[in-house]
Amino acid sequence: MRRELSLAEIFQIGYYWETKVLLTAVRLDVFSALGGKECTAAEVAQAIGADQRALGLLLNALVAMKVLAKTGDRFANTVVAKTHLVRSSPNYVGHLLLLHDAEWNNWGKLEETVRTGRSPVTRHVFETDPELGANVLSVLDRIGQQSGPGLAKRLELGGAKTLLDLGGGAGTNAIAFCTHYPQMNAVVFDLPQTLKVTERAVKEAGLEGRIALRAGDFNADPLGGPYDAVLMSDILHYQGPEANAALVEKCFAHLTSGGRLIIKDRFLDESGTGPAWVTAFAVHILVNTEKGRCYTVAEAASWMQEAGFQSVVELERTAVVRGVKP
Ligand SMILES: C[S@@+](CC[C@H](N)C(=O)[O-])C[C@H]1O[C@@H](n2cnc3c(N)ncnc32)[C@H](O)[C@@H]1O
Repeated sequence: MRRELSLAEIFQIGYYWETKVLLTAVRLDVFSALGGKECTAAEVAQAIGADQRALGLLLNALVAMKVLAKTGDRFANTVVAKTHLVRSSPNYVGHLLLLHDAEWNNWGKLEETVRTGRSPVTRHVFETDPELGANVLSVLDRIGQQSGPGLAKRLELGGAKTLLDLGGGAGTNAIAFCTHYPQMNAVVFDLPQTLKVTERAVKEAGLEGRIALRAGDFNADPLGGPYDAVLMSDILHYQGPEANAALVEKCFAHLTSGGRLIIKDRFLDESGTGPAWVTAFAVHILVNTEKGRCYTVAEAASWMQEAGFQSVVELERTAVVRGVKP
């Protein structure tokens, strides 16, 4: 039986102060100002243009949170802060935290959203702030590089010579797939602003000869092909069910006979109460997209079946669904 929460744990869940302290420090870029040095609050305040007393309180909280260290009156980055929160570091992840901070005001409208059922936004971040979107994709790319090769292997796409990575972002999956399957060529289809990041990543992987980039809006523009496989990874939760059903149908038309559509997403289980992370992500999608949702595998499977796909199966629980064009 599930253990009930204690009152202390309820308070812990309701406590967001440390979250905002960290996000604000990233916005102020105190970590880059500190770099590899030890500085007083006055020196950091001078470097970033802040009030010394107020900044001192923020820095002390960051020390208590173990993000910074303090000796006497001097502050320094911890190893994790220096590695991931200093802008010049190749492992900088601040863009992702800046995205969370940019979404703060939308979260502030959660009550209104729940009362009315209407999202406070009309467009998602990749449309409203392409530069932030592209930077976030670079971070996700670095994180995704660890999971892409495993996914490529598990999907057993040995016979596929052409892959369309729809809304492929930085090309993380296309790169992993082409690396795993030497016979495969891929097209990454995405919004023009995003493809700048993709171009860089494909070049770094040395796959310019095998991965082509195609700019456009996947709901409105032609997709090229036909392809032996189409991958939709983490794109459907930004859109409403009608748009998704239409997109799945469009992909059907762009596949060869025997071709496979693979949908990888953050699906909710049938009860809607798990996986735990996805239940919170579903609320995030509620306030940060106009019509987006976290769907169930059954919903994705029904779009596939309606489009004409056969052998529709959930390959990975609440994560990957695959259908075959007859
Ligand atoms: C969360 S990212 C997923 C990226 C990649 N598929 C992955 O799994 O790492 C969503 C991607 O969809 C793209 N996208 C969103 N709406 C789009 C549209 N209407 N047409 C083309 N691409 C779109 C975004 O630019 C972004 O790269």
